[in-house]
Amino acid sequence: MAEKNALLTLPTGETITLPIYQGSTGPDVIDVSGLLKAGYFTYDPGFMSTAATESKITYIDGDQGILLHRGYSIEDLAEKSDYLETCYLLWYGQLPSKSEKEIFVQAITRHTMLHESLAHFFDGFHHNAHPMAMMCGAVGALSAFYHDVMDMRSEREREIAAHRLIAKLPTLAAMCFKHSIGQPFMYPRNDLSYSANFLYMMFGTPCEEYVVSPAVERAMDRIFLLHADHEQNASTSTVRLAGSTGANPFACVSAGIAALWGPAHGGANEAVLIMLEEIGSIENIPEFIEKAKDPNDPFKLMGFGHRVYKNFDPRAKVMKKSCDEVLAELNVTDPRLRIAMELERIALSDAYFIERRLFPNVDFYSGIILSAIRIPTSMFTVIFAVSRTVGWISHWQEMVSSPYKIGRPRQLYTGETERPYPD
Ligand code: ACO
Repeated sequence: MAEKNALLTLPTGETITLPIYQGSTGPDVIDVSGLLKAGYFTYDPGFMSTAATESKITYIDGDQGILLHRGYSIEDLAEKSDYLETCYLLWYGQLPSKSEKEIFVQAITRHTMLHESLAHFFDGFHHNAHPMAMMCGAVGALSAFYHDVMDMRSEREREIAAHRLIAKLPTLAAMCFKHSIGQPFMYPRNDLSYSANFLYMMFGTPCEEYVVSPAVERAMDRIFLLHADHEQNASTSTVRLAGSTGANPFACVSAGIAALWGPAHGGANEAVLIMLEEIGSIENIPEFIEKAKDPNDPFKLMGFGHRVYKNFDPRAKVMKKSCDEVLAELNVTDPRLRIAMELERIALSDAYFIERRLFPNVDFYSGIILSAIRIPTSMFTVIFAVSRTVGWISHWQEMVSSPYKIGRPRQLYTGETERPYPD
């Protein structure tokens, strides 16, 4: 029951009572679903002020720069937890006990292999296909293997689907990379950690032993963890919308991957590196800053700005620290890093960026780390997709495990009204 109400007076003079609900934190929400009876829709392009659902998974306060998963801050998780433990937290709602964690890690590790037929799908892709294009197709294809056996009403089957997705996405991601460079696929290794196994499948070959550096393994795990979930973003909302039709969860995650691909969302980390290469040297930075500020130029500084964070992106802070550590540990002196740091300095002191509250986001630094650990630029968004899979599937599970409606927005129609077809 709502404790407060909002009153809306319509042009007819009629007053409508709209219940106001209070979450555990964050802005109150006005329930506008009753407006339809009065013959009105609400209008909010880009969902700037629309809460599309109730959720208990992730909380963001964009003004304060706060990101909580199930109540735990991203800073604490990045320092004290690891990716698979964070996956457990997102899916089950609580941190695992020691034995729960062991069982979970074991379950994920045992699901990393793919049906052998899936490998043949890759023969149909041209070698220079973008890895994200292959990911959309290959993850969607998983639904062909796990469709009839999946009863979404069963909690246990939903859990198995989640385990399969978290476990198999790194294997598929590495296959996309191997296909693009013409090397044989590497089978997963169950004796390695989640991150080390991914790096092994990416960089190992059957010809010689590949030893994963602990520093790189830690950096990879941190990247996975920092991207694990982010509330009702574009790709998560896409997964929820697709899932609201009762679609297979593997197909829903494939829809999420498609939404993530765009440069305004997950494609930004790839776009940051492309932009740094385009800038080329520190002397060229002012020219690019001017382009970014020019309202007639579509160019934007990639890795800057966020729909929700208008103060700073807490993930970016952790990622910057991680970035410094990785570059020092690996002794990498990447010229693009100097450009990135100078770009950050100038943008943070420029009135245009300050007034619009445009700060570096997580993608600004993650691209540099990924590049330092020799992940090719075209794989950046794929890695984001691997990380975010747990967020997508946790939101899907939250939706389908309680009563829900098909997602079906309405519109403000401004086209032609009915007219006669010419004789
Ligand atoms: N460079 C230059 N100007 C910018 C930038 C940028 N990166 N981002 C926003 N602006 C300007 C806009 O032009 C606009 O200016 P105006 O008020 O003079 O018209 C103002 O700042 C507000 O920007 P909006 O586009 O209205 O903000 P919105 O919340 O819709 O967009 C977005 C957020 C999409 C992230 C945007 O900032 C952007 O495109 N950034 C670059 C891409 C990027 O880094 N995306 C990653 C997001 S994080 C993630 O998905 C993990």
